[in-house]
Amino acid sequence: MTILAMQGIRGGCGTTAVCASLAWALAQTGQSVLVVDFSISNLLRLHFNHAWDSKEGWASTLKLQPSSPPIISYASGIDYLPFGFAEKETYSLINEGLFNQKQHQPNKLPDFLSFLSSNDYQWIIIDCSSTLSSLNELSNSLADINLVLLNPDVESHVLLKQKTFPLNSYFLINGFLPTSLIQQDVSHIWQQSLSNLVPAILHRDEAMAESLAVKKTSGEYQPGSLIAQDVHQLALWCQNLDKQGS
Ligand SMILES: Nc1ncnc2c1ncn2[C@@H]1O[C@H](COP(=O)(O)OP(=O)(O)OP(=O)(O)O)[C@@H](O)[C@H]1O
Ligand SMILES: [Mg+2]
Repeated sequence: MTILAMQGIRGGCGTTAVCASLAWALAQTGQSVLVVDFSISNLLRLHFNHAWDSKEGWASTLKLQPSSPPIISYASGIDYLPFGFAEKETYSLINEGLFNQKQHQPNKLPDFLSFLSSNDYQWIIIDCSSTLSSLNELSNSLADINLVLLNPDVESHVLLKQKTFPLNSYFLINGFLPTSLIQQDVSHIWQQSLSNLVPAILHRDEAMAESLAVKKTSGEYQPGSLIAQDVHQLALWCQNLDKQGS
């Protein structure tokens, strides 16, 4: 089982949409995937046709321990786990649970996150956009592959210089518009200077934005779209990296 954690260099980079699309693409190549939402926005589930007003998720069951996390089977090879509707009180429970675990049993996951050690899947993908810093720290330390999404713009370029990333981080360009001169320039600089830049580039494609409107992943919504092809290449790159690592 390989854990892939995805975060954006800043908010709104496309992390949630890419997590859902990558899970779909991996499942299409015959891999089994659990995609988990760590984001308090709780939007990942909407790419999997989840009822928008449903409150269920791993965080919303936290106060009801011991109960098993509501993992939902979506399609062949792909299960998802929503974050759920949670209140500030639940964030405190998560923070305290992670803090206590770190103090007393640093090599063990808290019970409420035991699904992250499930051996039922070849891949566990974690959406770390808009998450709590305690969850971000945990996923960074657990992940075999940390993917950091970059929109090819000057803001991302500056943030790249200001932030630090775990050693096993790879940078992935999302939202690339080939007609934009500034995007061409920024991407070119990164291709020259970033050793851990993923060779697959994800283009800006309306099919990605539209996929949420129909509550699907981009690959399911428009399998022939440019973004579906890009994400397929990303899935192959992930599998290749995984094979090299194992
Ligand atoms: N390659 C793309 N082409 C077109 N639209 C995209 C692309 N990637 C993401 N988007 C759109 O950008 C918007 C933001 O994406 P998303 O919510 O996945 O970002 P996020 O990084 O998870 O944001 P947050 O930090 O708020 O959690 C969505 O409308 C999504 O459909
Ligand atoms: Mg998000």
